[in-house]
Amino acid sequence: MARKLIVGNWKMNGSLAMNAELLEGIKAGLARVDCDLAICAPFPYLAQCQQALEGTGVALGAEDVSAHAVGAYTGQVSTRMLLDFDCKYVIVGHSERREYCNESDELVANKVQRALAGGLTPIVCVGESLKEKDAGQTEAVVSRQINTVLSVLEEREVCDIVVAYEPVWAIGTGKTPTPEMVKDVHALLRELMIRKNPDAAECVRILYGGSMKPSNAEEFLKMRDIDGGLIGGAALKASDFLKIAYLASR
Ligand code: PGA
Repeated sequence: MARKLIVGNWKMNGSLAMNAELLEGIKAGLARVDCDLAICAPFPYLAQCQQALEGTGVALGAEDVSAHAVGAYTGQVSTRMLLDFDCKYVIVGHSERREYCNESDELVANKVQRALAGGLTPIVCVGESLKEKDAGQTEAVVSRQINTVLSVLEEREVCDIVVAYEPVWAIGTGKTPTPEMVKDVHALLRELMIRKNPDAAECVRILYGGSMKPSNAEEFLKMRDIDGGLIGGAALKASDFLKIAYLASR
C-alpha cells in the first residue's frame, strides 16, 4: 500500500469550542499533507466535523456503530445515521470498548459485517493486553480476534476493511513496542487475511496504534508493513496530528 492512512481517534474528548479550534488548526496545515487523513469523533460532534471538514479531503469517521440496522436499541447509533453525516470510517472493536463495554469477538465481527453492509469502512482494532503479552500470547490473541472477523466476511469483503494493531498496554501509556515487534504482528495479520483473500497482500491497510506521537511516528511509518497510524492523545493537538501526517506523507 503506497499511500498511508492516519486516523485521529478523539475518544471521549472535546467540546464544541475545543473541536472548533482543533479543526481550524488541522485545516490550516493541510496543504503539506500527502497521505490519507481521517478523524473519528464522538457522535454528538459529527455534524460539527462534517461541516468543518467539507471539501478538505479529510475523511470523517465514528468511534463505534451498532450491530443492528434500526429499531429499539436505546443509545445505539446505526450505519445509516453515520452516513447522514458523510462518515466514511467507523472504529470497531477498540480495546476500550472490548474492555469497558464487554464487546466480544463475535459482537465485533457482527459490527464489522453491519458496517460493511451499510457502506462504511470499518477500522477493526486488535491487540493483546499486558498480561497476554507477558504470557507470550500476542500471536494467539490477535489471530483469534482477526479470525473471528474474517469468519463472517465474504472473500471480497476482506479488501474493504482497515485493521489497526493496538497493543492494549501501549494505549495512552507512552509505552510502545519496537517497530520490529509491530512488523511481526502486522505480517501475521496480513498472512491470515491473505489466506481468506490473496489480494489482501496489497489491498488491506494495517495501522499501528498506541502512543504514536511526532517523536516516534517516523520509526513506525517508515516500515513497509505499517500502513499508517491510529492516533489517540496526539490527535487532540493540531500541530502533533499534522506532524504525524507529514511524516506519513514522505
Ligand atoms: P493513544 O491511543 O495514541 O492515546 O495511545 C490510541 C488509540 O487508542 O487508538
